[in-house]
Amino acid sequence: MIFEQVATGGCQSYLVGCETSRVAALIDPELTQIDRYLGLAARDGLRIRYAIDTHTHADHFSASRELAQRLEIPVVAHQLSPAPYVDLRLEDGELLQVGSLKIQALHTPGHTRDSMCLVCEDRVFTGDTLLIGGTGRSDLPTGDPDALFDSLFGKVLKLPPEMLVFPAHDYKGRSSSTIGAEIEANPRLQKRERSAFVDMMEHLNLSAPTHLTEALRTNMNGGKTVTQLLAEATAVVPFVSMTELARRVEGGDNGFIVLDVRERDAFAAGHIPGAKHLPRGQLELRVDQELPNPTARILTCCEFGRISVLAAATLRTMGFRHASALDGGMKAWREAGLPLTTEA
Ligand SMILES: [Fe+2]
Repeated sequence: MIFEQVATGGCQSYLVGCETSRVAALIDPELTQIDRYLGLAARDGLRIRYAIDTHTHADHFSASRELAQRLEIPVVAHQLSPAPYVDLRLEDGELLQVGSLKIQALHTPGHTRDSMCLVCEDRVFTGDTLLIGGTGRSDLPTGDPDALFDSLFGKVLKLPPEMLVFPAHDYKGRSSSTIGAEIEANPRLQKRERSAFVDMMEHLNLSAPTHLTEALRTNMNGGKTVTQLLAEATAVVPFVSMTELARRVEGGDNGFIVLDVRERDAFAAGHIPGAKHLPRGQLELRVDQELPNPTARILTCCEFGRISVLAAATLRTMGFRHASALDGGMKAWREAGLPLTTEA
């Protein structure tokens, strides 16, 4: 087995490949690591055939859909996954053939309704069902502590004690454990009575993960993350530095239409001399009146330098081929003591 473990933040993902046929599956890929997975697969001489999510993640962004589109491979998840873009839905006990490797799905609901663990030779990828020294939480959408009890004590912990455990998360830099070691020392697994276990899970008082809604709309519905939208816009927009713009503003004619896309009050409180005001929210509808010359050089700016990138990308989509964005925002501009005016 060719095996690569990729840790990012607390997330763990795995590239599992067959040595003879050189095909591979990617388990719980994370959106920021796409190039790394592709790099690892290339280095190991592997072709990725499946992108598998052990469950609908609520705390980070799955790369499965993006990878599936790029590589023309199926997204694999459990039958109960709410994601409409899942191509291959596994039932409990079904297995995938990855060359000579077999990856078997165990339906292990509890952390989420669609959670599964994946058994492959000497190891099990436990998703968020079983973590090293912990378990996944059961208080997020579709979580169920009773079901988690059954999944753990009725299924996962019945695997051979020497079987290696690779979870979807570890926040302490550990890479693996074994079923035996977890039965022995995992504090949550010491509650072996259903009622005691459920009671413990119901009183963990965990705070909601950051990005919960963003993760769910992305992972359940195939939407884009804010970071993705910004990255896509950034990739098609040229930037002008604050120093360069300041130099031109001081010289009188800057050669650009500086387009300030903030709201009216922010613009009135202080803007770059000569800037034109057109709030982002009205951009598409008013652009033809406000910017009659589609060949003009337009430089967008906003408060933090993010909305301005989206605005410049929109302008380029609309045919303003010379739209660019300020590398920075008005906050940084003010802090740098660069010229400001309140004149309309
Ligand atoms: Fe999770």
